[in-house]
Amino acid sequence: MTIAIPDSVTLDAGKGGLPRVRVRNALGAAEIYLDGAHVTSFTPAGGADLLWMSAQSLFAEGKPIRGGIPLCWPWFGPDPKGLGRTGHGVARLARWTPVAAAQLHDGRTRIDLALDPCAATAPGIDQPFHLDLTVIVGRELEVRLTTVNTGRSALTIDDALHTYFAVRDVRSTTITGLEGIGYVDKVDGGARKVQAGAIAFTGETDRVYQPTAGTVVIDDGVRRIRVAKAGSAATVVWNPWTAKAKAMADFGDDEWPGMLCIEAANCLDAPIHLLPGTAHTTTQVIG
Ligand code: BG6
Repeated sequence: MTIAIPDSVTLDAGKGGLPRVRVRNALGAAEIYLDGAHVTSFTPAGGADLLWMSAQSLFAEGKPIRGGIPLCWPWFGPDPKGLGRTGHGVARLARWTPVAAAQLHDGRTRIDLALDPCAATAPGIDQPFHLDLTVIVGRELEVRLTTVNTGRSALTIDDALHTYFAVRDVRSTTITGLEGIGYVDKVDGGARKVQAGAIAFTGETDRVYQPTAGTVVIDDGVRRIRVAKAGSAATVVWNPWTAKAKAMADFGDDEWPGMLCIEAANCLDAPIHLLPGTAHTTTQVIG
């Protein structure tokens, strides 16, 4: 299929020679790798990149990219069936296809990518589906992940837009918008707790807040990043801190202070149940 490409969009070979879509308009700029439909950069015009990327990230076919916006689908975290399949599901490892690009009348640029079901069936997704990612680049970045159940039986999935944000120093960064929300504390054996006040980071942090549809604000003392969402019942907050950073081969030992993840997710208590012929969209808007 041939798609019309607006002047604001270019296709080139990115790091590791992987195919990349670059978007630059008067409002902002972004980069998307077709492997994983992975947004690795979003810079509003006149500003700095909102997204964090590890200098140690791999850029190789079939390997996850560390930073930016990984897509978790159709499971969140370890393989739920314990079959040794990749953590956070297969969508982030598959090569996606760009299907449309458009310059919108308000100056934003829209890119649509699709995942060929064949690319995600190995190993283990044995039900028909259609998966789309829409990325809209303007002063804000809007990302929408849509799952369609094209099969004849119900489909249950997790998903997450696993966004890595760049911060000056996570130790002096706060997150507001989750006060009073319950969470599962994955670094405390899955204990159920309730958030009191703003979130501050004093050690490894790995939490699934649920239910919450609210907007979150990251304040690192230099800038405030607003993270809004729709179609997502859970917000995941993650920073690996020292030991876990050291344990990850594609994450620099000293990089952890410069990042945190705020993820728009559907997982744990509230996966997505799709009857045949129905669809679900998970959206995150950052700016
Ligand atoms: C977070 C999880 O969403 O992703 C963490 O809550 C996990 O438990 C982190 O460590 C990174 O996952 P991965 O598979 O990209 O190393």
